[in-house]
Amino acid sequence: VNDLERELNIQGLRAAFLRYTREAFEKLPAMEQAKILDIGCGAGASMFELARLCSAEILGIDIDRNALATLEAGISDAGLSDRLKVVECSLLAVDFSDETFDVLWEEGTLHIIDTERALAECRRLLKPGGYLVVAETIGWFETTQPALSAHGFELVDSVLWAEGCWWTEYYSPLEQRLRGLRDKYRDSKEAAALKRYEDEVAMVKKDPSLTNCGHFIMQKTPGRTSTEAD
Ligand SMILES: C[S@@+](CC[C@H](N)C(=O)[O-])C[C@H]1O[C@@H](n2cnc3c(N)ncnc32)[C@H](O)[C@@H]1O
Repeated sequence: VNDLERELNIQGLRAAFLRYTREAFEKLPAMEQAKILDIGCGAGASMFELARLCSAEILGIDIDRNALATLEAGISDAGLSDRLKVVECSLLAVDFSDETFDVLWEEGTLHIIDTERALAECRRLLKPGGYLVVAETIGWFETTQPALSAHGFELVDSVLWAEGCWWTEYYSPLEQRLRGLRDKYRDSKEAAALKRYEDEVAMVKKDPSLTNCGHFIMQKTPGRTSTEAD
């Protein structure tokens, strides 16, 4: 997390959606001594929220070293180092054993990773009957549903986010902040990052429906899937 992200209050704005993380988590059955993997944990928004909601051991993985450094400092400050851990690695390069986790949680990461390889890895890492919870756009979920079924993930519940919430609660306030910071960062090394945020705001402003999201709660079904049978 750099100065620009801090001044834009990215993590503060993103926190608005943790209410949906809570709502989705509450739909899972109570689990004793669960092990959760947060895939693409970033600076840890969902990881901290999950830690508030249960006493599980939570492992976060991400490929962004800077975000992980911020997260590790936060974990230490919060006194949670005994059960929150982070590992810098890609989902596609983890060396955890098969069937290690009760829950795989991800918010905004799976759509970035090659679907087939990511889902095969999710299936391998989950215990039988374990849960895969994804927070993604409804469009992504609909497109990916056949692949999810083929990998043996069955939708058991969902939490749909309020329509337009990304615009009203994140992108609109972000647009205001960007206006105020444009001159300050115009000639800095952060100028390109600022432009990327501006482009993202413009894209969502044009079509807010692109960001309609949900948490989709799936269970790993028993038995061999078409993929495992190959
Ligand atoms: C949109 S951010 C979401 C971060 C966090 N989950 C949140 O909700 O605030 C996506 C994250 O996925 C991470 N990422 C991208 N490819 C990845 C991969 N192959 N394995 C693990 N993490 C990855 C990025 O570094 C980034 O932190």
